[in-house]
Amino acid sequence: MVVGTGYVGLTTGACLSSLSHLVTCVDVDEAKVARLSAGRVDILEPGLSELVARGLTSGRLTFTTDARRAVADAEGVFLCVPTPMGAGGAADLRAVEAVTAQIGDVLPPGCALITKSTVPVGTARRIADLIGRHDVPVVSNPEFLREGTAVSDFLGPDRIVVGSDDEQAAHWVADLYAGLSAPAVISDAASAELVKYAANCFLAMKLSYVNAIAELCERLGADITSVTEGMGHDRRIGRSFLKPGPGWGGSCLPKDTHALMRIAESVRYDFGMLGAAIDENIAQRDRIVAKIAGAVGGTLAGARIGVLGLAFKAGTNDLRDSPALSVSSVLSALGADLTAYDPAVGGEIPGMTVVDDPYQVAKGADAIVVLTEWAEFQRLDWTYVSELMHGDAVVDTRNLLEPRVVLDAGLSWQGVGRTLHR
Ligand code: UGA
Repeated sequence: MVVGTGYVGLTTGACLSSLSHLVTCVDVDEAKVARLSAGRVDILEPGLSELVARGLTSGRLTFTTDARRAVADAEGVFLCVPTPMGAGGAADLRAVEAVTAQIGDVLPPGCALITKSTVPVGTARRIADLIGRHDVPVVSNPEFLREGTAVSDFLGPDRIVVGSDDEQAAHWVADLYAGLSAPAVISDAASAELVKYAANCFLAMKLSYVNAIAELCERLGADITSVTEGMGHDRRIGRSFLKPGPGWGGSCLPKDTHALMRIAESVRYDFGMLGAAIDENIAQRDRIVAKIAGAVGGTLAGARIGVLGLAFKAGTNDLRDSPALSVSSVLSALGADLTAYDPAVGGEIPGMTVVDDPYQVAKGADAIVVLTEWAEFQRLDWTYVSELMHGDAVVDTRNLLEPRVVLDAGLSWQGVGRTLHR
């Protein structure tokens, strides 16, 4: 059984059913359960609809709102409910606790209760205390799914991490993934819980470091593209996660960095290095805002800015903690007039006009700002964009565009960490 049908829960359920397991996905949202039972998937996750359809047809995947009934014949229950940022930056465990309270007394003896949501170190033990049953092992099996590639990350993982103070239960959970070829790291519960934070926070620190090096590149006249290429060939560093941008965001990195700060505090460790990475992320956003201000002559009040991209990264429609929104809200607060386009985002967003045509953002714009790395922005007719604009500034916070194409269209181009001008 899988509780929660967000991108983690639904991916977990659909992928486990594709590995021939019988899966029931539970959610409190009746309308969502009805849609999923009819094969309708709301989230943008390549391959997920197909897997859900296959699971439904094969009968290996079902959806329900009735957790207490569904749990009756479960051998394992995956908790995939949200653990948002709560008071003071710590993870809010109310959803995890609510599910535990709901099903704790009806879990069949021997059924493993598995946390997949990112939960603070010590949660497995806390859940075990809450349930108060010696016949129900609690297991931590963190996910490493990226939004937009969740299905391929699940089916082709770098590793499977499973931790429990009940070793047999940990091995049972690891065996659920037997069809996949990935190393399994089996540990105690606290270590598995910490792996998730340690990995996400390392990625956040890596990005803050890259953004800081990009800033140095600008000040020193170097080019971040060459610098990161030169760094990335070193296998100890690796080539991925080295692209500078408007800052890191999304539903995981910001909340997990804050949560690990609180976890460290709880054991009186001052995790200054991680705190610096969080501060650097805000500094990066402010440097991007300053760069945009500079591109429109120094003052944002009354400037017309065309925004390309609102999602926190390309390939998703997720706006949670999106750096694009964060930059936009500062621009708007400083008096800029914003028109925005994102291929996956529509509707109303305070402080801007959202349009459904990228060329509409160019109309009368003093500057165009690329904030999400959608490939389709590379294919825009930049000469036409130039004709539509009032000014000539393009600020490419993702180093997405080919500068030559933009310059040839009669526009100026500024990226991040690259010193290239007209
Ligand atoms: C992240 C982790 O990568 C997953 O391994 C993890 O499972 C997930 O959080 C989670 O905890 O559930 P995700 O939030 O989907 O996945 O996003 P990432 O692809 O990691 O991107 C995070 C942010 O970093 C985005 O704002 C992105 O634009 C930025 N980024 C990423 C860069 O600025 N440069 C890069 O080179 C890579």
